[in-house]
Amino acid sequence: MTFRVIIAVASLAIGIGAVSAQQNPIEARKALMKATGQQAQIGSRMAKGEEPFDLTKAQTIFTTYQETSAKAKDLFPPNSQTGGDTAADPKIWQNMADFQAKLAKLGSDAKEASGQVKDLESFRAAFGNVMKNCGSCHEPYRIKKS
Ligand code: HEC
Repeated sequence: MTFRVIIAVASLAIGIGAVSAQQNPIEARKALMKATGQQAQIGSRMAKGEEPFDLTKAQTIFTTYQETSAKAKDLFPPNSQTGGDTAADPKIWQNMADFQAKLAKLGSDAKEASGQVKDLESFRAAFGNVMKNCGSCHEPYRIKKS
């Protein structure tokens, strides 16, 4: 009896999770960007020699960036300009074509980087190049919070 109740509660929780990912683009894009930031930290540690270079980890970084580019493009619908403690600047919705172009460039640069990396030296160059995309979008389109 208790067991059944647990199953029912657990499946209910999973259902709610799935619904909120679809209905809450702010939460979804924040989670996506957070994961992107975590990959960037791994990359930065490898580039600085604080962590040994690992080709599989390097490729995971670039694959994650491509996924971010592909998924984030649908996570800025018109009804998600405010709320949820978003740091997205309202300018995004006034310049949606430019914003989408920047997102797409992150994906294509990450794809290119993925084909270039073979060792630490090539990783440093490719990673440095892809990371320019973060600032060039955050600068105009992300509100800085203290
Ligand atoms: C095309 C635009 C764009 C690009 C490119 C981009 N970001 Fe973002 N990023 C945003 C926006 C907009 C937000 C704010 C989202 C919100 O709060 O709704 C954000 C938020 C974040 C956050 C905070 C997430 C949180 O916890 O709320 C991190 C970390 C982040 N980005 C990392 C990165 C990294 C690393 C890259 C580059 C590999 C990158 N971003 C590339 C637009 C971009």
